[in-house]
Amino acid sequence: MITLAHIQEVRSRIAAARSEGKSIGFVPTMGYLHDGHCSLLRKAKQEHGFVVLSIFVNPTQFAPTEDLDRYPRDLERDSRNAEAAGCDLIFVPSVAEMYPQGYSSYVTVEGLSSVLEGEFRPEHFRGVTTVVMKLMNIVQADTTYFGQKDAQQSIIIKKMAADLNLPGRIDIVPTVREADGLAMSSRNVYLTPEQRSNAPVLHRSLQLAQQLTRSGERDPQVIIEAMRSLIQQHAPTQIDYIRIVGASDLQERTVLVTGETVLIPLAVRFGTTRLIDNIVITI
Ligand code: PAJ
Repeated sequence: MITLAHIQEVRSRIAAARSEGKSIGFVPTMGYLHDGHCSLLRKAKQEHGFVVLSIFVNPTQFAPTEDLDRYPRDLERDSRNAEAAGCDLIFVPSVAEMYPQGYSSYVTVEGLSSVLEGEFRPEHFRGVTTVVMKLMNIVQADTTYFGQKDAQQSIIIKKMAADLNLPGRIDIVPTVREADGLAMSSRNVYLTPEQRSNAPVLHRSLQLAQQLTRSGERDPQVIIEAMRSLIQQHAPTQIDYIRIVGASDLQERTVLVTGETVLIPLAVRFGTTRLIDNIVITI
């Protein structure tokens, strides 16, 4: 495995792999890898001869009040984990490499970017789509892998790829969870032991929603209230949102219709740590 910081070096190493007849799988991340990230790398390795991982804590997707400076970083540990998961090349650009002086181009997916997470993080998805577009243009993979953990992000990136005719496939990989159900996240390290013991309630609330729909509940408000009261019993600092939306349009549903696929995303703060999770349910 090789680690490179410059775009031109990455392009020529990938060109060399292509000339050896290898197809390219790509996993963009912000590093501090956990088994969720590694599941994307393992899938990429099953499907492609050459696997590229990017690690870049992208400043344009963080608001000034957010955790850019304290975002956890450990390149040595990431390198070991990435190699064990089948990675062939790690791209670790600097901020200046990605956004040189005078940088001025941004990609925005309208509509989908302003709901849910976009209501609480107004510039966030513009930063995500811009950096993902740049990374995908640099790597030009056959398949780029994203996680269902960030459901809205995955939907927005798929929309960008379709709207802008990006070549290559986009694959969304299931959420990897801790044994107690908490979705793996680089931000889980911020949780105090007490917050960590309360956080699995998010997954339990999503399972409760699934049980309720299975037992015939069709009123989204009833489901959301049941989830809210379960979460409230576990000392959340704030529930930013719990919604039931169409799985591709992200529009809120006022009634659930048999056969429809809905997404239930939520964002909850424990202390200053903001956790997101979701479930997809076909009614
Ligand atoms: P990051 O949070 O590091 O996540 C990188 C990828 O791993 C994303 O596609 C995310 O959905 C996926 N992922 C995270 N936790 C997961 C889990 N528990 N199970 C499965 N997949 C998981 O998302 C980003 O970085 C950035 O926004 C990025 C797309 C790299 C752009 O900067």
